[in-house]
Amino acid sequence: MNTFHWFLLELVRFYPVYRLDFVQNRTRSLRIESPEVPEVTAQHEARPTLTTEAGAPLADNQNTETAGPGGPLLVQDQQLFEKLAHFNRERIPERIVHARGGGAYGTFTLTRDVSQWTRARFMSEVGKQTETFLRMSTVAGSLGSADAVRDPRGFALKFYTEEGNYDLVGNNTPVFFIKDASKFPDFIHTQKRDPYTGSQEADNVWDFWGLSPESTHQVTWLFGDRGIPASFRNMNGYSSHTYQWNNAQGEVFWVKYHFKTNQGIKNLTAEEAAVLAGTDPDSHQRDLREAIERGEFPSWTVQVQIMPAGDAATYRFNPFDLTKVWPHADYPPIEIGKLELNRNPDNVFAEVEQSIFSPAHFVPGIGPSPDKMLQGRLFAYADAHRYRVGVNADHLPVNSPHATESRTYGRDGALYDGRHNRAKNYEPNSFGGPAQTDQPLWSTTAVTGFTGNHAAPTHAEDNDFVQAGDLYRLMSQDEKDRLVTNLANGISGVSPDRDDIVDRAIGNFSHADADLGRRLELAVKELRG
Ligand code: HEM
Repeated sequence: MNTFHWFLLELVRFYPVYRLDFVQNRTRSLRIESPEVPEVTAQHEARPTLTTEAGAPLADNQNTETAGPGGPLLVQDQQLFEKLAHFNRERIPERIVHARGGGAYGTFTLTRDVSQWTRARFMSEVGKQTETFLRMSTVAGSLGSADAVRDPRGFALKFYTEEGNYDLVGNNTPVFFIKDASKFPDFIHTQKRDPYTGSQEADNVWDFWGLSPESTHQVTWLFGDRGIPASFRNMNGYSSHTYQWNNAQGEVFWVKYHFKTNQGIKNLTAEEAAVLAGTDPDSHQRDLREAIERGEFPSWTVQVQIMPAGDAATYRFNPFDLTKVWPHADYPPIEIGKLELNRNPDNVFAEVEQSIFSPAHFVPGIGPSPDKMLQGRLFAYADAHRYRVGVNADHLPVNSPHATESRTYGRDGALYDGRHNRAKNYEPNSFGGPAQTDQPLWSTTAVTGFTGNHAAPTHAEDNDFVQAGDLYRLMSQDEKDRLVTNLANGISGVSPDRDDIVDRAIGNFSHADADLGRRLELAVKELRG
């Protein structure tokens, strides 16, 4: 027997032994590395099972999967990567303006018959109630800024009507800084951070206002007592713009809305606000939520000023100029309803951050006016929503109609939920798809002249300063003093070598009221030395 034969015989004799030993060793080593499958814990039994986004049960949400206890992470720990990747995408772009705000649901109740002016069905019967969602905000600050600052407050109201959602996107001020939409991005750039310094700069703010004399009325308002409301509950809301109402006979009326707070107007002084903004940046949002939690439902009395269409051409002020009010003596506010907030959103991101409001959301009986700012806004908002929230933003529960449903041939896009099932996606069709009404929401208005880059027309008493002066002269002596101090503190922040900016800014207030201009000049001189 040669060596080879001996080896074969040995192999056959001892194979079972070698094999057993190998298998046992392997099993032993596998047992060492693999932990026991743990018992289901009592804590787990009491709570629903944690899962991945795809619904598979998740074993460990506290320790990542590694190669050995001290080793590096394993690519197969997809639960970890899903968690980190989702977290990285938790933010959507903040609103380019009005980034910071709070909101709540509520009810609008009609208290007066308005059918002579509008055929809007949600305002067709005294006592009729409509669900609403109101978001109030500051304008210039970013999402993480403080509430208690000098800034207009947004007052964006959604009515969930049976004829679709009607959005009234106003402010707590009856007027605005500018009257042409093309100036809005430039204006907002001066309110936001300077491209070089990264801070808001007094130079930019006062340069723009000084060179835009139409802002004098709103700036007087903003630096007066109402410039820093004590809370969202203690301020009024206004449509600011003029809108069209039209009745069943097709007659047109121009309207401005006022929402008068039933909590009383309360404001903060500049000093009080500086302390509050530093100690409680969320003061407005917390105040609103807690009041509703306590059952103290904030409310506003709703009024409208109504101008018959025939008055517009000869009214002493251009009725579509957003820098002007209609004095109450000319068109007295008429009380028509009550707005109450009575339910907090359950999820701020879903319902407040992702809420969208558009001045172009009208219902039958209500429409736009030729206000040049409003016309620009009719485009800007839906465009912002598509970018900020997505093309299907209006499918989210807070944004979709609650008292009717939307029926369109629009389809698909990111996060489309298939709501139209098998329905045809084109028009005209012979498959019974939704059909148009042939009834425009608003009435036609006459236009004249040639196309061109026109400034808004001026009427008999229009100029950039008259209503700012009237506002100043209405103030008590104390209010005037505080206005001068606030303006002087603001203007004196302009760079020492830019007296021209200071002079232009003061010049606008002098045009509004000579006494205001004189006092401002002295106060600024004292501060700038
Ligand atoms: C042409 C002038 C204006 C333009 C282009 C403009 C544009 C915008 C844009 C892009 C947003 C962010 C929308 C979003 O991301 O959801 C916004 C928000 C807002 N704007 Fe304007 N805006 C203008 C004038 C005004 C005026 C005059 C008012 C008040 C009378 C106003 C009130 C608001 C309010 C309240 C919000 C916040 C809405 C919310 O809570 O979601 N805006 N604006």
